[in-house]
Amino acid sequence: MPRASDEASTLRVENLDVTYGRAVSALRSVSLDVPPGSVVTLLGANGAGKTTLLRAVSGTLRLHRGAVTAGAIRYGETVLDGQDPVAAVRAGVVQVPEGRRVFAALTVDENLRSGGLGLGRRTPERIKEGRERVFTLFPRLAERTRQQAGLLSGGEQQMLAIGRALMAAPKLLLLDEPSLGLAPQMVERIAEVVREINAQGTSVLLVEQNAGMALALADHAHVLEVGEVRLSGPAAELARTDAVRRLYLGEADATEGATGHATDETAPGGPERGAA
Ligand SMILES: Nc1ncnc2c1ncn2[C@@H]1O[C@H](COP(=O)(O)OP(=O)(O)O)[C@@H](O)[C@H]1O
Ligand SMILES: [Mg+2]
Repeated sequence: MPRASDEASTLRVENLDVTYGRAVSALRSVSLDVPPGSVVTLLGANGAGKTTLLRAVSGTLRLHRGAVTAGAIRYGETVLDGQDPVAAVRAGVVQVPEGRRVFAALTVDENLRSGGLGLGRRTPERIKEGRERVFTLFPRLAERTRQQAGLLSGGEQQMLAIGRALMAAPKLLLLDEPSLGLAPQMVERIAEVVREINAQGTSVLLVEQNAGMALALADHAHVLEVGEVRLSGPAAELARTDAVRRLYLGEADATEGATGHATDETAPGGPERGAA
């Protein structure tokens, strides 16, 4: 049941600058919102800064020697920039890391039980509820509870990584390239699951290089290029722009019949690049 939507909150990222170490600027004046109940996607090539944004939101940035140097991140009333990961999880914000990092030596069930650790008040009922939710979404995991996670297929490991995050009953799920390296059929399955999770009341910030999948799922989309938001708009509109079709949807002939310069006409209010 959609307990997740009890306290509807918007994620607001405002004019965010992030650097790694002393000099590497990874994000510059990035702004985006994830309204309650929505799916928002952040697209971009390798190295654009997608993972960095999720790390900043989930409080894991510091583990990678990164820091927010300007701007703010709020989830409802909660200030998230500068917080640690436990604070984010407590606020209802949970990240599924890229590369589906499950605990390879632990069983499926042990991996699931590790989800939401640090939350405190984890009653046996909550854990039972969480497992039931996960097994309903992923019947394959239910059949493999005692299997070592490292022996699962890539797609199953992605399911487990998502399932583990759901054990913390997130209100906002941060997904980092869930489709990466998966066969098309599995990508479709993951897409269905994201839809289902969202339908249950959880907002989703979906980071993807697979623009086709992401734009089909999302309400709103942003394109990140070298640390800056280049394009923003309703996902359906972005999917029609020449630049996105050519660069991110792999349509070589997208220029035919299109006028180019998609930027201004398709991003109402212009690209969100912070203070212009
Ligand atoms: N721990 C780190 N230390 C230094 N630079 C990093 C670190 N993590 C990422 N970067 C750099 O930050 C930029 C954005 O990386 P990332 O957020 O991982 O991009 P994406 O997820 O879009 O592929 C890249 O130039 C990358 O090399
Ligand atoms: Mg990444």
